[in-house]
Amino acid sequence: MAANELVIAEVADGIAIVTINRPDKLNALNTAVRQAFIATLGRLEADPSVRVAIVTGAGEKAFVAGADVAEFEHRTAIEQFTVSRCGAIYTAAAAFRKPLIAAINGVCLGGGCELALACDIRLASATARLGQPEVNLGFPPGGGATQRLSRLVGVGQAFKLIYSGEMINADEAWRIGLVEEVVAADRLMARARELAASIAAKSPVALQLIKEAIQASLELPLAEGLRLEAALFGVAFASDDRREGVRAFLEKRRPVFRGQ
Ligand code: COA
Repeated sequence: MAANELVIAEVADGIAIVTINRPDKLNALNTAVRQAFIATLGRLEADPSVRVAIVTGAGEKAFVAGADVAEFEHRTAIEQFTVSRCGAIYTAAAAFRKPLIAAINGVCLGGGCELALACDIRLASATARLGQPEVNLGFPPGGGATQRLSRLVGVGQAFKLIYSGEMINADEAWRIGLVEEVVAADRLMARARELAASIAAKSPVALQLIKEAIQASLELPLAEGLRLEAALFGVAFASDDRREGVRAFLEKRRPVFRGQ
């Protein structure tokens, strides 16, 4: 791996590990990191050997400590508007058409927490700390927290975290539903790989349809969501993966899914 790259992607056995690599600044998101992250996800999406991706941060201390505050000092409102509207990493993560797991290995603040929120599943090291400290800097979150956090943990917990700007530990994050699992720090990546491997063995067609349907559930009225689910179920029936899955079950063997 190239140690000087801001975002490192390693692919093996269908699993891509995407490491945000700016540990001396606690992996804070500057413009170059954001661009590298978006480009990396684009490459991984186009690579059929990649079934699942894990996002994590380099070093022992941080997943991502938020947006690079130093970049805010001289940025004009128009520049910020452009940064926020064009190609945000959060949009790229949510739009990534394969399962995306956040392996939260340390502080996960501001834009870091928002990046984790845009992933499908969040695993946290027992030593992780999470929060939305933007209010301490005089502005609200701008990477999706006011929308995605309240959908994940409920409006009251979202208000509490975003109004207070306080950090919470991994157990509290699990208790309120902000992360799906807490894992001992030295087991985090092994557990993330294990979960990713189990997902990578499934049908890529089914996984993509599941992602689309669950994401739509956040926006659609129930009846429309159920109609979408039924339509996507029909799409899956046209796939070789569905034929292989059913045949393998009847033949009492493991299916081999090719994503076709
Ligand atoms: N933007 C830019 N630089 C950051 C950063 C951020 N969000 N978070 C950390 N850094 C830098 C620090 O400036 C420091 O750089 P330096 O060594 O050149 O001075 C380095 O990363 C290490 O951070 P430091 O603050 O010394 O580590 P710590 O362990 O004492 O504290 C935190 C850790 C996370 C509590 C603290 O870094 C922090 O509060 N960061 C900002 C979090 C934030 O407000 N994020 C939301 C931004 S919108």
